[in-house]
Amino acid sequence: MKIFLDSAHIEDVKKAYDMGAISGVTTNPSIISRENRKFDELLAEITSIITDGPVFAEVLALDAEGMIREGRALAAKSPNIVVKIPSIPEGLKAVKTLAAEGVTVCVTVIFSAAQALLAANAGASYVAPFVGRLDDIGENGLDLAAEIREIFDAQGIETKIVAASVRHPVHVTELAKMGVDVATMPFKVIMQMATNPNTARAVDGFLKDWEKVPKE
Ligand code: E4P
Repeated sequence: MKIFLDSAHIEDVKKAYDMGAISGVTTNPSIISRENRKFDELLAEITSIITDGPVFAEVLALDAEGMIREGRALAAKSPNIVVKIPSIPEGLKAVKTLAAEGVTVCVTVIFSAAQALLAANAGASYVAPFVGRLDDIGENGLDLAAEIREIFDAQGIETKIVAASVRHPVHVTELAKMGVDVATMPFKVIMQMATNPNTARAVDGFLKDWEKVPKE
């Protein structure tokens, strides 16, 4: 399972990429707003770091025509841009047009397997179920990801599942076990995965014991 960083914070993008932890970056309008920088500049900087994987950027329009216009403009910025379109009826119209033009599209803000199926049929390359936000409202986000996996496998659908709204390392390992293609997560979750107090204690013990080894 691939891991993407769900952030537009340049320092975090660099750190996660240099660690070899990520092979793509996802953004949304809320993520962009946290950086207090112009969108175009931020996106250009992210695509200059992530040259060998996808960078997801979302449209703001809610009508198909507007989404198509924005989607084309985003796709023209860099060959590795994936255009995120919200899972609404107008969005599906935009997906059909953009996908036919060769634009790579992710249908986002998915809260049901039915939405994922329609998105795949419209031509989406990725679908993004919001796992954590379902947990937030007392449902089971992992169950949704598993249901989409089951349907896509049963139907031979090649659209990739990019599990979004990932909150902690257990989400990540459960998603990997069920065969989800990608999990996108904040930098904090990547660091939680990369560190373990037992590992730190063991490494510390090795260094302390090494001091007891006679030198010369
Ligand atoms: C990413 O593509 C999604 O927009 C993001 O994971 C949503 O995360 P949140 O639910 O933590 O805002």
